Amino acid sequence: TVCFDQGRLQAPAKELLLMLLGLEIHFTACCPIDCVCYPSPMTVSCQAHNFASIPEGIPENSERIFLQNNQITLLLRGHFSPSMVTLWIYSNNITFIDPDTFDEFVNLEELDLGDNRYLRALAAETFQGLVKLHALYLYKCGLSSLPSGIFGGLHNLQYLYLQDNHIEFLQDDIFVDLVNLSHLFLHGNKLWSLHQNTFRGLINLDRLLIHQNQLQWVHRRAFHDLRRLTTLFLFNNSLSELQGECLAHLGALEFLRLNGNPWSCDCKSRSLWDWLRRFRGSCSSVICESPEQMHGKDLKVLKAEDYRNCSGSESLHQIKTHTFSTADRGASKDHHSHHSSKEKGKERGVEHSLHSSQPAAPPGSRPGSLPINYPYVCLIMFINYMEIYLQM
Ligand SMILES: *[C@@H]1O[C@H](CO)[C@@H](O)[C@H](O)[C@H]1NC(C)=O
Ligand SMILES: *[C@@H]1O[C@H](CO)[C@@H](O)[C@H](O)[C@H]1NC(C)=O
Ligand SMILES: *[C@@H]1O[C@H](CO)[C@@H](O)[C@H](O)[C@H]1NC(C)=O
Ligand SMILES: *[C@@H]1O[C@H](CO)[C@@H](O)[C@H](O)[C@H]1NC(C)=O
Repeated sequence: TVCFDQGRLQAPAKELLLMLLGLEIHFTACCPIDCVCYPSPMTVSCQAHNFASIPEGIPENSERIFLQNNQITLLLRGHFSPSMVTLWIYSNNITFIDPDTFDEFVNLEELDLGDNRYLRALAAETFQGLVKLHALYLYKCGLSSLPSGIFGGLHNLQYLYLQDNHIEFLQDDIFVDLVNLSHLFLHGNKLWSLHQNTFRGLINLDRLLIHQNQLQWVHRRAFHDLRRLTTLFLFNNSLSELQGECLAHLGALEFLRLNGNPWSCDCKSRSLWDWLRRFRGSCSSVICESPEQMHGKDLKVLKAEDYRNCSGSESLHQIKTHTFSTADRGASKDHHSHHSSKEKGKERGVEHSLHSSQPAAPPGSRPGSLPINYPYVCLIMFINYMEIYLQM
């Protein structure tokens, strides 16, 4: 361990380097060998040094610790102290995190554990009590599931990066405490369904990225709490249908990407078509894969005539059942009760067909919609993409 005494470093090369960087040196504590330390706030920088374990001698009062690009395999209780505010330990080879490693770290704001491909599993208590945590990075960690309660109590979390794992399933209410979450990145996983309470509680969510998954089914109420969402990416999934009702909860939506899905443009697509007609934001193409006569067409440019063969009596019936509340529907023994909930969801897709008797108007001149300023939308989208990619 290299120690400093009243502003003097034992390693002259380091002192020179620090002085070149214009940093004042007032060290009273030790700095681990092969690391660089500087005060206010106390910072320890040990990146890219082939460390196989947490180096010894990290000062107790360190607030910022940079350990990225090493070969560290274990994180245990006692490795860090609760004064820590920022820990970057991405791109290591962490295989195990003791659930007590960050116990009572009430100052921790940013924790970057990304790109540790052999991590694979986390205990439910790992992040317990991190009341100030603002950003949590868990991308490329080989995770295939998340224990229920793992994000419990993280009321200040704003950024949660879970992309490029192998997550197949998200438990109901897993994000329910994340009232301040703004960005949730789940792309590049293996999710195949989104349930009614998957995203419950995310009342401040701004961006939800779920592209590059295997989504086949989205519950019609899956997005019910996301009233502040502006960006939703669902491209490159296996969706053949999505009900308009699903998107109708997203009152603030501006950017929607649905391309790269095998859309079925039969009668059941009518509610999505109808919602898209009314949507004021920017949406990708929605290319139909089936039925055969629609193959290659964009759902967005279909006309009311394309739905003329869809049974009106079916629509009428659906509108009637729609007037029951969820509770009524559960209590009444209506004749849907023999269907699976999935089939039920599909049938209700035509609920909104009441509105679709109006002819489609050209974009920008729809009743009740503001004209879209396309260059402006493109610029905003470009800025959004830049931000998203810079964060990854
Ligand atoms: C990382 O850890 C895994 C699992 O223990 C091991 O198989 C692999 O060789 C390690 N990689 C490196 C570069 O040390
Ligand atoms: C987080 O949410 C709580 C409750 O809604 C609020 O009081 C607090 O100010 C929020 N914190 C941040 C950083 O937005
Ligand atoms: C969709 O995924 C495939 C395979 O992972 C990839 O090659 C393709 O570029 C992706 N498309 C988009 C639009 O990202
Ligand atoms: C509607 O039905 C007629 C007669 O069965 C058929 O020729 C036509 O292709 C159908 N149109 C659509 C859009 O499915």
